[in-house]
Amino acid sequence: MLNKPDQLLREAKALLEKATGEADVEAVRIGFFGKKGKLTAILRSMGALSQEERKELGLRANRVKEEIESLIAEKKREISATLRSARFSAEKLDVTEPGRRPPIGNRHPITQTIGEIVRIFANMGYSVTEGPEVETVFNNFDALNAAPNHPSRDLTDTFYITKDTLLRTQTSPVQVRTLRSAAPPIKVISPGRCFRTDAPDATHSPMFHQVEGLLVDEGVSMTDLKGVLDLFAKRMFNENVVTKFRPHFFPFTEPSAEMDMSCFVCGGKGCRVCGGSGWIEILGCGMVHPNVLRVGGVDAERYTGFAFGMGVERIAMLKHGVGDIRLFYENDIRFIRQFG
Ligand code: DAH
Repeated sequence: MLNKPDQLLREAKALLEKATGEADVEAVRIGFFGKKGKLTAILRSMGALSQEERKELGLRANRVKEEIESLIAEKKREISATLRSARFSAEKLDVTEPGRRPPIGNRHPITQTIGEIVRIFANMGYSVTEGPEVETVFNNFDALNAAPNHPSRDLTDTFYITKDTLLRTQTSPVQVRTLRSAAPPIKVISPGRCFRTDAPDATHSPMFHQVEGLLVDEGVSMTDLKGVLDLFAKRMFNENVVTKFRPHFFPFTEPSAEMDMSCFVCGGKGCRVCGGSGWIEILGCGMVHPNVLRVGGVDAERYTGFAFGMGVERIAMLKHGVGDIRLFYENDIRFIRQFG
């Protein structure tokens, strides 16, 4: 009986040596010191012994208890140190590892097309200006010489916000803003969003983009307009396209024209892209109407100017062979990536 504590100590040592986790150590503690623990049992059984024996066994049992406790504490420290160093090495950062690049997208084809158009005109000395998408009815229609009963003012074509404000139906109101805020010579282009109540189909969208152009100076004539826009068509599509100007009507220009270019795909012979005609309509243009100059505070006796406006989606569709305008707004990454 007196040797029992030493026996338990050996037993505990052996168990602790094999212990690898905190749970193993806890099991040892309970096995010896718990309610039904082996050392607990010895201490309980002492009542039956003589006083001498009790004293001796008590001494030994307490010594062994302390020793096992300190072995347990030591083992716990050891295990937590091992766990910590395992965690540290798992968390180790290799600072020499090359970085991982996040996937990079590409510019939207409409943004790219606007960029190309802007670059061509910037190279001819035009600066870029922008106007608001929410415009006054005055800037969008009245100041642009649109008759009070002009059909484009119709509720069925225009998103009105109030009686006096709307979502601009064209970028042309930027002409008015520019004329009012700057004095000639003026040479600007203005890309931006426009809105019309068109039902979406392959060639229509209630939101679309235009690029407007305006040049005002002394002695500007129709030949200047033709030269600039012909050069634009050649730079945008290819050197061999030729252009022609068809009379047209816009309220804010007089005379007005639409510019066609020979088909950049078939060279004018007729193909699917040009619908067999050999020609492609590309933009509207004209000499700025004196009424518009006057509303803009420009002396219409002294200055003349030309203006033009083009649909960005239409140009992008032609250039890239896109058959449906709605593809531009779905943002299907498989479509957008083709313009990377
Ligand atoms: N604003 C016209 C439209 O939306 C396009 C246009 C035609 C703009 C002739 C012009 C221009 O500046 O001179 O259809």
